[in-house]
Amino acid sequence: MVKVAILGFGVVGSGVAEVIRRNEEVITARAGVGMEVKYILDLRDFPDSPYADKMVKDFSVIEQDPEVDVVVETIGGAKAALEFTRRALKAGKSVVSSNKELVAQHGYELLCLARENKVSYRFEASVGGGIPVLHPLSQCLAANRLTEVRGILNGTTNYILTHMIGTGLSFEEALKEAQERGYAEHDPSADIEGIDACRKTCILAAIAFGRHVYPSQVSTEGITKVTLADVSYADAAGMRVKLLGRAIRQDDGKVMAYVAPHLVRHSDPLADVDDVFNAIIVRGNAIGDVMFYGRGAGKLPTASAVVADVIDAFQHQRTRRFLSWDEGSEAYVVGPEGLCSQWFLRLRGTVRDLEGLGPVTILGRPGAPADEIGVITEAMTHDELSKRLNGTAPLSAMRVLDESADLA
Ligand code: HSE
Repeated sequence: MVKVAILGFGVVGSGVAEVIRRNEEVITARAGVGMEVKYILDLRDFPDSPYADKMVKDFSVIEQDPEVDVVVETIGGAKAALEFTRRALKAGKSVVSSNKELVAQHGYELLCLARENKVSYRFEASVGGGIPVLHPLSQCLAANRLTEVRGILNGTTNYILTHMIGTGLSFEEALKEAQERGYAEHDPSADIEGIDACRKTCILAAIAFGRHVYPSQVSTEGITKVTLADVSYADAAGMRVKLLGRAIRQDDGKVMAYVAPHLVRHSDPLADVDDVFNAIIVRGNAIGDVMFYGRGAGKLPTASAVVADVIDAFQHQRTRRFLSWDEGSEAYVVGPEGLCSQWFLRLRGTVRDLEGLGPVTILGRPGAPADEIGVITEAMTHDELSKRLNGTAPLSAMRVLDESADLA
């Protein structure tokens, strides 16, 4: 019997308990043995829960119980979660996590600690919710030199953008719905400011390119400045507004990583990824592009990835498969300054004010004020764009997603 302790009985933790109970038969068949939740750690009381008899408040009970094989960390944050993960690994227990903040900040250290203690540290659920992407990236694409990872990595913001466009909900209404569905972070500013997508970009880049990328190294912009006017111009140009995380391996070995809203052409597979769905496109020199698609947030999809990792950690107890990457460095990560893109601009002014911009496609939108103009420029770096704007501050500026990374 695999004995599991769940840390944190929130959306994901309770989903893990539910999946283990609901899919008992199939999990037993796949793991080769049954799976039992022995403890659930939470500071809150859940007297009416069917798991009330498993609740503990003191982590040492789990740490000191030799029967516990796998600790599931679904607390979130990087304080108690970090301490308990360190202690569990040192106590010889494998740890499975959905915590992107912790992995993005401390993944290198925790993977080293797991290896030293001959146990697993796994976190498939930390990126893309229920989508299997980290495993395939590290195992099935191992024969490729990977050059780029890009994708829609946050379910909450994708839900908001989809419903602002499709159902005409306000930003606040769409966010409230995403929160009610259990998609949003405890503090939803991590979603809408792009911080969650940034953490996931770091994890993807570390696995794809083999070195740690820290969140503070990634230029990050969320969706708070995206307006319905921008969305309407994008629509007129046959495009959709999507928040993308992107990591590109440069020829000099450095990684360019950033998170920002983009205009995506309807012909791009990312354009039709709606609602809570995420999609991650990985580019390899043998395979070309591969896209991973599915539910990027939510209780049961995320729990599905966690429980699969528990099975994997247990099955590989004797022939441990260590995931690893190297320590990061300051010079290793660069911002998108060198990236040439076409730009969508929304400006206050008239066509006569566009002279310095070079060739542009002028866009229209229903109800646009007479002194507002929307354009798509030719491809250029951000510096070149600033030069051509010559001091004019656009109301909005977003990159148009290019087919392939085009470095200046
Ligand atoms: N808040 C996250 C999202 C949860 O909306 O994608 C899944 O990581």
